[in-house]
Amino acid sequence: MSSTMKALVSCYVPAQRFVRAASLPVAPPAAAQRRLWSSSSSSQNKPRPSLLRHLSSKIKATGPISVAEYMREVLTNPVTGYYVRNNMLGPEGDFITSPEISQIFGELLGVWVISEWMGAGSPKQLQLVELGPGKGSLASDVLRVFAQLRPVLGDASVSLHMVEVSPALSQLQAKTLTGNQHQEVETEDELVYRRGETGTGLLVSWYHRLDDVPKGFSIFLAHEFFDALPIHKFQRTDKGWREVMVDIDPEQPDQLRFVVTPSPTLASSTLVQADELRDHVEVCAEAGVVIQQLARRITEDGGAALIADYGHDGTKTDTFRGFKGHQLHDVLASPGSADLTADVDFSYLRWVAGGGVACLGPVSQRTFLKNMGIDTRLQVLLRNCTDPSTRKQLISSYDVLTNPAKMGERFHFFSLLHHSRLTKPRTPEGLKLEKKRSPAPLPVAGFTQLTFS
Ligand SMILES: C[S@@+](CC[C@H](N)C(=O)[O-])C[C@H]1O[C@@H](n2cnc3c(N)ncnc32)[C@H](O)[C@@H]1O
Repeated sequence: MSSTMKALVSCYVPAQRFVRAASLPVAPPAAAQRRLWSSSSSSQNKPRPSLLRHLSSKIKATGPISVAEYMREVLTNPVTGYYVRNNMLGPEGDFITSPEISQIFGELLGVWVISEWMGAGSPKQLQLVELGPGKGSLASDVLRVFAQLRPVLGDASVSLHMVEVSPALSQLQAKTLTGNQHQEVETEDELVYRRGETGTGLLVSWYHRLDDVPKGFSIFLAHEFFDALPIHKFQRTDKGWREVMVDIDPEQPDQLRFVVTPSPTLASSTLVQADELRDHVEVCAEAGVVIQQLARRITEDGGAALIADYGHDGTKTDTFRGFKGHQLHDVLASPGSADLTADVDFSYLRWVAGGGVACLGPVSQRTFLKNMGIDTRLQVLLRNCTDPSTRKQLISSYDVLTNPAKMGERFHFFSLLHHSRLTKPRTPEGLKLEKKRSPAPLPVAGFTQLTFS
């Protein structure tokens, strides 16, 4: 294992550019470190009156809406939502994420995927499923590792499955991964809405929902996906837990405000844990549903999920925030013009995963990448690079990804694994092996340090 991992991390050469971002912002404001924002486009600063109008009509018709409904509308409304209308990850976009900062990030995740596929006994089928793939850069870097390590994958049938709600971003992903080798699927009864083929002949399919992805052994990747899912907010009061809702401000009818429900809602009665000690809680029920789907698939079909996001372990209270440009943005101001996000509560993900799968993490991004051999990988790239500015960018992007004061400690990795992955393989009956010689499970890359002997 250790020599294979060493080969995986150090042998392949960069097939594209060393560093994706032309220039990296220096020390973004602390609050904005979750995403490193570049200059914002003028189109993204325009107010979105139509979404505000839509939300106001909804509130007038049915009363205040939950924060989850507000967040869902603002981010993914099919006409005016932030992710649907905005090209926030394009050249004139708003922010840069880890896969956009350096191709090393995606390459190391590619190594993780292959390592977990090997740890599961190298099944004949490998579905790589990415949730919320943004611009497609992460998948593209993972696939480059697959191409480089094709002999390791042998004759396994590999396919790529993208779960993306934004038609605009799915087009960008298709261009990144397939060039022009893709097309929309017209038939309404199809679960796939776009299909394509990569330059190396891998089939790529796009779906709106995880449930639509075919069953089969799969490795799931979700980078900055869960933080974009809608959260409910709750507040402890003298009368018990109440839900925080979004209402029209009666004093300024073109503005929204937060209100607290006078009586319990279905969500406040069912989503807050009985032994909760905090006074304010955010619960992402949609994340819970996705985690349960992942856990069920991994239990039934084998595989693993790797989730990377900023978050906490059930300790924080009020993390719902908006971002526009390099600044924090009022979540209720000009809805649809800014990104909305909330920290991922990993303790909740672990709880909803239940006992059917094993959970590892969260570990910090710095720990994970260092365990994955980012230092070795950086040295290999530097050895092969003589251009001073590229060398400088390589070192600077390494720093952004791993420095505890930048992304190193803010982002965390969390994994769902099939239980068999962590248990010792059983000695076949009738074979009398000495106890000490029975094989140990392969270590899970990233969560344990790999020794390169
Ligand atoms: C913050 S971006 C992260 C993009 C990319 N993973 C990265 O790290 O660069 C969130 C991604 O999730 C997608 N997304 C948001 N909500 C979604 C949902 N409910 N279902 C599927 N995709 C969603 C967005 O369109 C976008 O591609």
